[in-house]
Amino acid sequence: MKIPIELINYLKKTTHIAVLTGAGISAESGLKTFRDAQDGHWAKYRPEDLATPEAFTRDPKLVWDWYAMRRNKVTEATPNAGHFALVELESLIPNFTLITQNVDGYHRQAGSKNVLELHGNIQKVKCYDGCGVVESWNTGDTPPHCPKCNAYLRPDVVWFGESLPLDTITAAHKAALEAQAFFSIGTSGLVEPAASLAHTARQNGAIVIEINLDPTPLTPHVDFALHGKSGEILPQLVKELIK
Ligand code: OAD
Repeated sequence: MKIPIELINYLKKTTHIAVLTGAGISAESGLKTFRDAQDGHWAKYRPEDLATPEAFTRDPKLVWDWYAMRRNKVTEATPNAGHFALVELESLIPNFTLITQNVDGYHRQAGSKNVLELHGNIQKVKCYDGCGVVESWNTGDTPPHCPKCNAYLRPDVVWFGESLPLDTITAAHKAALEAQAFFSIGTSGLVEPAASLAHTARQNGAIVIEINLDPTPLTPHVDFALHGKSGEILPQLVKELIK
């Protein structure tokens, strides 16, 4: 893929960049994207039916086991060239914010610093009763109990029907408002409020760049649509930038 020279020239003068990533950036690590079919025992469930407070209330063990399986996949795999290219991009840009919908924690693991995890982190658990306890994954009972109030512990992720952490979404909006360039990478752009960040950035003067295998609902509104694998396009883009 040839990266347009106008894009490289623009980025070379840019001081504020915001990046939004979705499951597609971790696909080349071997993790399934959110809307891919599940395999094995889990094929009969839709993620949308497991990632809810109602599902956890109904069958805590089922939901805990599903997250344990997903967490194992995350710990067995590693960040890929796309994650590492974003670490390098951060080092080149004075104000760089990486907003992710992914719960795998790979951006921080790769070395990115200014990361906003909109949907939480699958490596952590928190008290289901909201008594404030957050800790790393506990492999005891399924699910284990809160050490403070004895309620169930649950994955520290945002479920369907739950609000996003206010400080995180506020910081993401600020980054989108201030951005001179906004990247939407490996996301189908279907879920709010992440989906509208690109439009916020654009309305405030940013150019919008999409990196995705396929066109998405955002594609007609972007300045540059780069179709292909993020693990290939991002390293190439960074290489061109430092040339
Ligand atoms: P999706 O599974 O909806 O979309 C993944 C996107 O990545 C698709 O548009 C693919 O075309 C693209 N893609 C796949 N492989 C790629 C690659 N190697 N390089 C570039 N692009 C690639 O995942 P998300 O958009 O992340 O929320 O889904 C967003 C949210 O929807 C999830 O965080 C989840 C769900 O509701 C919650 O759980 C709260």
